[in-house]
Amino acid sequence: MYIQKLKLHQFRNYESLEIELDKEKNIFYGNNAQGKTNLLEAIFLSGFAKSFRTQKEKELIQSGKDEAIVEIIYQRKDRDGKIRIEIGEKKTFFINGIKVKKLSEILGKINLVFFYPDSIEMIKQGPNKRRKFLDMMIGQLKPSYIYYCNQYLKTLEQRNIYLRQIKFDNKPEEMLEIWDEKLAEYGEKIFNERKIYLEKIADKIEKIHKEITENKEVISIKYLSSYHENYLKELKTKRKIDIQKGFTTYGIHRDDFLVFLNGKDLSAFGSQGQQRSSVISLKLTELAIIEEEIGEKPILLLDDFMSELDENRRNRFLEKITQNQVIITCTEKLKGIDGKTFHVQNGRI
Ligand SMILES: Nc1ncnc2c1ncn2[C@@H]1O[C@H](COP(=O)(O)OP(=O)(O)OP(=O)(O)O)[C@@H](O)[C@H]1O
Ligand SMILES: [Mg+2]
Repeated sequence: MYIQKLKLHQFRNYESLEIELDKEKNIFYGNNAQGKTNLLEAIFLSGFAKSFRTQKEKELIQSGKDEAIVEIIYQRKDRDGKIRIEIGEKKTFFINGIKVKKLSEILGKINLVFFYPDSIEMIKQGPNKRRKFLDMMIGQLKPSYIYYCNQYLKTLEQRNIYLRQIKFDNKPEEMLEIWDEKLAEYGEKIFNERKIYLEKIADKIEKIHKEITENKEVISIKYLSSYHENYLKELKTKRKIDIQKGFTTYGIHRDDFLVFLNGKDLSAFGSQGQQRSSVISLKLTELAIIEEEIGEKPILLLDDFMSELDENRRNRFLEKITQNQVIITCTEKLKGIDGKTFHVQNGRI
């Protein structure tokens, strides 16, 4: 699949923009703070119905204006389509001219894999980023998954508030049953999907990583979840502790996965270079899984491509990408990479 056209109106530092993209490689280069990442943000918004940089959607509107518009025309194997987003007091989405009622309807219209300088944090930092990686991949393949995640988080928040009310206001403990049942219902669904997709990742990543490292490293993945076969029972067992602590200590909101290199925990023992290569492998695995599930190649967004990877890794990465549409941003023209090239300067191309 590919994006044919991108139109922006009063989006970030773009007053007005209309460009046609190449089916394969597109390179946006320019100095810092000119609007390269803003372009990827607009595309990301069309795929995931939210920004990767801000929760405050007002920030997307050009300063001094009161509305922004993003429009994308895309082509898939068997259909084409148009996504339009109007951002004003609220966000309104249109697919082929028809207003979308639930944001989850947007998910999966275009499939994206996003690689940006922070991606390496997924390895270095706590479980948050790893869960986000999983959720973004699964969510675009199964929009109902995002629905369950949102419901789960909402319920969790309510349960946590209630836990504190039990502790401080002596509210009855039995009322927790309502939240527990919901948490168990959504939690199990989420766990099952994560398990399926982590198995898919584990299946594919070993071979990909061998190729990336020229057979030097064996990578493996392990799902860490506190989930037991009886979610409800487990919530009950932890109830006293939860009340005492004022939050829910058990559940899939604490899930994580570990990455091992040659049997050792990558986040603790991996070198910077090994961590970078492993992120590449994870991203290539994500591409492969999405392609397998949807039967066509997803679009790859690469932000600040120079800063993240040295030339060697960059080339090995790109060698693995064939025929995907790739949208790259960088501060200098890339040597040895052919593609449609755009110069970005102060919100203009
Ligand atoms: N709502 C807005 N209205 C106007 N300009 C904005 C708005 N939001 C951001 N900008 C401007 O957009 C620019 C940043 O754009 P962007 O993050 O795309 O830069 P970049 O080209 O990716 O830079 P770098 O190479 O440093 O990553 C800044 O100059 C910022 O002031
Ligand atoms: Mg940038």
